[in-house]
Amino acid sequence: MTRVAVVVGSVRPNRIATSIAQWVVDQASAVEGVEAELVDIAAYDLPLFAEELPPMVGAPANEAGAAFNQAMQSFDAVVFVAPEYNYSIPGALKNAIDYLEPRALANKGVGLVGYSYSNGIRAVEHLKQIVTGFGGVVASPQVYLSLNTDVADGAFAPAAYHDGEVPAMVQAVVARSEALACLR
Ligand SMILES: Cc1cc2nc3c(=O)[nH]c(=O)nc-3n(C[C@H](O)[C@H](O)[C@H](O)COP(=O)(O)O)c2cc1C
Repeated sequence: MTRVAVVVGSVRPNRIATSIAQWVVDQASAVEGVEAELVDIAAYDLPLFAEELPPMVGAPANEAGAAFNQAMQSFDAVVFVAPEYNYSIPGALKNAIDYLEPRALANKGVGLVGYSYSNGIRAVEHLKQIVTGFGGVVASPQVYLSLNTDVADGAFAPAAYHDGEVPAMVQAVVARSEALACLR
């Protein structure tokens, strides 16, 4: 069984992130051998990162940061669900990632789901750089959603052509996590 964290990358009260992330969890859970779990960074109420030590030197001391770091380490693989904010990822998601020790992502398969009015492309591209810095391995394909065509009456309603995209990505994520298990 591969345990996959599906990280909700927005903390706004009326975010669409939770609907999209739940859709990812449901589709990922249907993949054989996968146990997917929603990880909501908003639930951790993380303060702005202001630790004495960088996480590559020592685990975070802040209680919320330590809990998030520990939770992320417990998974075999990760999928980030991220909107594009100002041509990048939300500051809240970057702040959460800043709390992670390298082993939270190193040698794990990582899937990326981006969304925005411009398909979340730049959020995904920035996450590729960030994840690679941790030694995580971004699986292809990624999933790109449009708020122009995948939302109806204010609710997430993915177009039919997205059918199968999340399972394909999750299978690729799991294959990488399995192949890299000996390095974790
Ligand atoms: C601070 C901020 C910056 C944004 N920047 C972009 C952007 O650069 N490109 C884009 O297509 N949409 C942008 N948007 C629109 C978001 O993609 C859209 O509001 C989306 O619903 C945000 O995800 P969330 O509802 O899960 O927070 C931005 C929204 C916010 C709040």
